[in-house]
Amino acid sequence: MLRIIAKTVIGSLRIVAVQCNRRFVRAMSFVPIAGLIVLLSACGSQANRFSAKSPSGDVALDFELNESGSPEYRVSYKDQQVILPSGLGFLLDGESPLKEGFIVSKVSTAKVDDTWEQPWGEQRLIRNHYAELLIRLQEIAGDKRQLNLRFRVFDEGVAFRYEFPQQSSLTTFKVMDELTEFNLADAADIWWTPAQAGNQYEYLYNKTSLNEVTLAHTPATLKTENGLAVVLHEAALFNYSTMNLRHVDGNQLKAELVPFSKTESFKAALSAPFNTPWRTIKVAESENDLVTSYMELNLNEPNKLGDVSWVNPGKYIGIWWELHLNKGTWEQGEKHAATTQNTKKYIDFAAEHGFAGVLVEGWNYGWDGEWWNHGGGAFNFTKPYPDYDIDYLTKYAKDKGVFIIGHHETGAETDNYEKQLEDAYAYLEAHGMKAVKTGYVESGELLTNGNYHHGQSFVQHAEKVIQTAAKHHVMVVAHETVKDTGERRTYPNMISREVARGQEYNAWSEDGGNPPNHTTILPYTRMLSGPMDFTPGVFNISLPERPDNQVNTTLAKQLALYVVVYSPVQMACDLPENYEAHPDAFQFIKDVAVDWETSIVLGGEIGEYFAVARQVRNGDEWYVGAVTNEKARTVDLALAFLPVDTRFTATIYRDAKDADYKANPTAYVIESKTVSAKDSLKIDLATSGGVAVKLTPIDE
Ligand code: NOJ
Ligand code: CA
Repeated sequence: MLRIIAKTVIGSLRIVAVQCNRRFVRAMSFVPIAGLIVLLSACGSQANRFSAKSPSGDVALDFELNESGSPEYRVSYKDQQVILPSGLGFLLDGESPLKEGFIVSKVSTAKVDDTWEQPWGEQRLIRNHYAELLIRLQEIAGDKRQLNLRFRVFDEGVAFRYEFPQQSSLTTFKVMDELTEFNLADAADIWWTPAQAGNQYEYLYNKTSLNEVTLAHTPATLKTENGLAVVLHEAALFNYSTMNLRHVDGNQLKAELVPFSKTESFKAALSAPFNTPWRTIKVAESENDLVTSYMELNLNEPNKLGDVSWVNPGKYIGIWWELHLNKGTWEQGEKHAATTQNTKKYIDFAAEHGFAGVLVEGWNYGWDGEWWNHGGGAFNFTKPYPDYDIDYLTKYAKDKGVFIIGHHETGAETDNYEKQLEDAYAYLEAHGMKAVKTGYVESGELLTNGNYHHGQSFVQHAEKVIQTAAKHHVMVVAHETVKDTGERRTYPNMISREVARGQEYNAWSEDGGNPPNHTTILPYTRMLSGPMDFTPGVFNISLPERPDNQVNTTLAKQLALYVVVYSPVQMACDLPENYEAHPDAFQFIKDVAVDWETSIVLGGEIGEYFAVARQVRNGDEWYVGAVTNEKARTVDLALAFLPVDTRFTATIYRDAKDADYKANPTAYVIESKTVSAKDSLKIDLATSGGVAVKLTPIDE
């Protein structure tokens, strides 16, 4: 029996759904069109298949509705399988699973090639170039629920999202599980940090084989047995739960969404129409080719804020490192750091050395007690401590041409924060605080309201904060927040975030701080998601105030981090007196740009070393940064990125011959050379060393 049950004409593609011997398959006539090849299906065992290729043809996506009407996808790179058939779908609360018994009701394709400009960033102009395949599915029986899958195939990988169209049989619903699978074709090494493990996202990276993963945070970076670099992540995470990756079997990973709360095990409460975040699979022959991929940014919606001339990259100092060194305290008392007097000292230093902002932590009520353990008084975001004269300091800073960066540590009490949100941001605006650093320190995985730290309600909270901040023209630098999935494109005031182990661990971590390879892994993992508020710049490496700790880098490596770890807001985190002790090296921090025309990876290998060049936005200067792990090595930095007809002065801040991150970390050399695009700089890096180079064109 052959019964026609649906008929659709889409551009040059006509699909006729048929019921064939009780098995639902599809017959179709087709015309191959650029970027999309549709294969013929017929009654029998062959299922429905649709394919799309990236603009260069290197990356291919194959979609298939198998014999049970379940959607599956595959990804290949230059004809090499990367992702084997992998399942898609959902388990919903009180509903039958949304994963089988589908037919394809319609297929559409699109090709996009446009270029847009970031208001600030590591790359001014970004090309958005992909082939799109939209598959509309409908259940053949029962409620005939609909589910769409939108695939975008870029030269650097594949992205897809689920779309729940408006429909009478699925209005409001709860996702119990997202069934997305990532069945890697090959065994692989993977660099990953644990998810839902109790310390937000602040872990050292594990390098294990794929089958040793438990639950991994993304981006997770893999190098397959066949030598491909693969990165799994997500884009445009709004109003949904964070996706982590659970190892299932063999080389299989599966999406695992963070539960809603301690008592509610569902993952996301949704109402149609709704689009999930994008699931992204990036692939290249070298991890260096993935560092400057902007696929996740391309998958986010364009700027929703309109005029963002009030969002400005810049450098800052602040009352911060002295807190982590335990020289001062956040809470009131003899050692209270955020006093009027101390803040004035920082404002003076910022004004003298050209820093835009001064961060002040511990200025407001809420720090007295075990605030990190839900034991503090509720934080109050409009009530300064009595020894912090905010009105006086607001005027003092303004007169000196700098602004104070507000600090909102919430202790993970999001309800308390949300109650005060509007007032808190109006207060920042009224006091000239153009930026705020937020924080969500907690012990465990739960917010104080019992919801999961990275679950749907927290994701919603994070967006509410960005929107409220935007209303008051405040830039947000968020710590312990949800991971970056490219939201800065839509909300350019979401200027930076932490969400990995930053400098703070070097002050007090019982494991001895970040090991030398940490910052050679970050560029290939965490940094693939977006800017990081790492807060580089420690000059007093041996930390006399913390005898059990030491920063595990040379001083030159701390300078290199300003170029290596991209952020539009960079802190000079050390104490003013430690910069005064090295005015020549401090000059690099004063000079280095934070907003870039372009970024070019010069070389590197995950966990070993990394070298990058960045051109100043609206300028002719370039900066280069290179860092190594515990191995001393020579890097050969080819300057071919420079314009051919110009000579440059290279000011090189490098490790001295006898530098060593343990024995002699502050031994550095500053030297100048005239160079051109034909040259390369051969530089010796010490153990856990680095080099920072400023390249200034010579007027001739
Ligand atoms: C953790 C943040 O990462 C750090 O920068 C901040 O100083 C403390 N929380 C206190 O809010
Ligand atoms: Ca932190």
